[in-house]
Amino acid sequence: MIKTRKIAFLGAGSMAEAMISGMINANKLPAKNIIVTNRSNEKRLNELEAKYGITSVRRHELNTKEIDVFILAMKPKDAEQALSSLKPDIQKHQIVLSVLAGISTSYMESLLHDDQQVIRVMPNTSSMIQQSATAISPGQNTAMDTVLLTKDLLSAIGEVYLIDEKQMDIFTGIAGSGPAYFYFLMEHIEKAAKEEGLDPEVARQIGAQTIYGAARMMMEREETPTQLRKNVTSPNGTTAAGLDALAKYGGGEAMMAAIKGASKRSKELSTQLQKVSS
Ligand SMILES: NC(=O)c1ccc[n+]([C@@H]2O[C@H](COP(=O)([O-])OP(=O)(O)OC[C@H]3O[C@@H](n4cnc5c(N)ncnc54)[C@H](OP(=O)(O)O)[C@@H]3O)[C@@H](O)[C@H]2O)c1
Repeated sequence: MIKTRKIAFLGAGSMAEAMISGMINANKLPAKNIIVTNRSNEKRLNELEAKYGITSVRRHELNTKEIDVFILAMKPKDAEQALSSLKPDIQKHQIVLSVLAGISTSYMESLLHDDQQVIRVMPNTSSMIQQSATAISPGQNTAMDTVLLTKDLLSAIGEVYLIDEKQMDIFTGIAGSGPAYFYFLMEHIEKAAKEEGLDPEVARQIGAQTIYGAARMMMEREETPTQLRKNVTSPNGTTAAGLDALAKYGGGEAMMAAIKGASKRSKELSTQLQKVSS
């Protein structure tokens, strides 16, 4: 039962806030069971406490014994220090989740106790409105019950997918970086609309509803995206003209290159981080 657990966020930045906000809005657990701490910015802690009714404490005042789940939410470069200072305070039965990009479960395990249960989490910024596509990958000591508890907890910020850690880079290329691709798409929808005499603000609303509607179709209907596309493409019609232009300008290849480029960069950053940290 997640409702009775105590969760401590180590890190009080934008990702921690998005997750806290989701958990409170989804009524996942009482605000008093969420504790947040950071390195030194007390003003930020007071702000989060006032806004969400959670408890904030300075790091050295955190009573680690009463915590069931720790969520690491600092920058990846601060992981080593944070994990090393957590080790003397933490027991084997306590769970450690990390949202830190590029920090592997094996690296976390190496800095904590043997048998420590750790889970790597990759949310995206749509957590802010509880619409994240979040991946989780358990470490080698993590029990299935812990995975299920984590899925339940993170369902507060959107959909949760259990993936092999080897797939974290491609997941990052699709979902971690993905929102930006659609923002970029929208920038071009607005630009085209303006050139054709439509107010860009109106175009933004129309474009966003169109993307949302297409996303819902793909999630709720049985047809594949290919079938859905064929269904709306009459020979010689407007959609066919649009798709011809997309093909002519390499729209499909551009999208694949974006995903593969982001995935490659994710792999490079992970390698660099583990090297710096080891
Ligand atoms: N933003 C995204 O879309 C996204 C998506 C997926 C994953 N992430 C991951 O989320 C993490 C946090 O990102 P963010 O944008 O929220 O960062 P941020 O706004 O810079 O916040 C970092 C927080 O960590 C605290 N901190 C640093 N060292 C600490 C320690 N040893 N113990 C406790 N707290 C410590 C900082 O405290 P002070 O302010 O007091 O120094 C600050 O509150 C990153 O690792 C990132 O990879 C972000």
